Amino acid sequence: VSLESLPLDPSSLPGELASDAGVREDDAYAALLARLSRKSVEKKFEAYVDVPWDDPEYAVDPRDPRFELEPADPLGATAWYRALPQPVRARLGLHLIASFAKIGLQFENVLCRGLLEFALAQPNRSPEFRYCLHEVIEECQHSLMFQEFVNRSGIEIGGLRGPVRFAANQVVHLGRRFPELFFLFVLGGEDPIDHVQRIAMQARPDLHPLVRRISQIHITEEARHLSFARAYLRRHVPRLPAHKRLLLRLRTPLILGNMARLMMQASPELVREYRIPRSVLDEAYRRNPEHLRAAGEALAKLGALCRELEIAVPPFDRLWRRLGIGTAIA
Ligand SMILES: [Fe+2]
Ligand SMILES: [Fe+2]
Repeated sequence: VSLESLPLDPSSLPGELASDAGVREDDAYAALLARLSRKSVEKKFEAYVDVPWDDPEYAVDPRDPRFELEPADPLGATAWYRALPQPVRARLGLHLIASFAKIGLQFENVLCRGLLEFALAQPNRSPEFRYCLHEVIEECQHSLMFQEFVNRSGIEIGGLRGPVRFAANQVVHLGRRFPELFFLFVLGGEDPIDHVQRIAMQARPDLHPLVRRISQIHITEEARHLSFARAYLRRHVPRLPAHKRLLLRLRTPLILGNMARLMMQASPELVREYRIPRSVLDEAYRRNPEHLRAAGEALAKLGALCRELEIAVPPFDRLWRRLGIGTAIA
């Protein structure tokens, strides 16, 4: 990490210099938020205006070979998957995309509720208040797109249940009580989704046009969300009292380890429906060095930020390795 990219810590500078640096840092932060807010007005998308849902080329057919998993996909690479009949291969591929869309919109639901809690706690003239509401509006448009896609897949998808749902509800309160941890959770969802969508867009020229359009819109708007969450963390984490920094060090790897799994592996629902054997899941995910490396890569940017902010420091780095996300901070 270069010195320039680190936010200045005013407390480490003497007298006048400190206040100068503080003012410069305040200005840069306010300017970034103003720019993000302006961009949210200038470049925005609407789920039912910017996606040609009823264009026949965009129709969703569960037998469409473009939904088949490619050999680069961890599950698509297994002999078990390749031996399935074509219509099942295609449907399973569609099911996987649709279940990621469902988990994505459930994540966005938690995110929006947390952002609203956060926004409500902001004072008058807060630049965060305005930007967060732009973000909520965009996330609602994304959720409309994702749910419409799920509906058009024709597959019944329940998404997250029980304990995971309970944990998600706890996160909502963090928006007001512990926004730093909340924004780490936000990045834990947004960063891997963004990474996976970018790779799919590049690696699959035959990507279904509807999936491509939705991903394109999502990537464009998520870039702003990621930029805001990172700037917020760089500004606020260094100012936290010691006990809160300790909590961040303990809780961040727990949150990220669970989220990476939810966002990058076949859901239990899908495993049940296609009767995917345990050994195949091990081969595809749990004991697949290629997948573990890819999952680490999806979290690499966030891992680097956590090192920069001294969240992933010894001995807490051991937790990251224990939870299967050690490669993110390697
Ligand atoms: Fe989103
Ligand atoms: Fe987002």
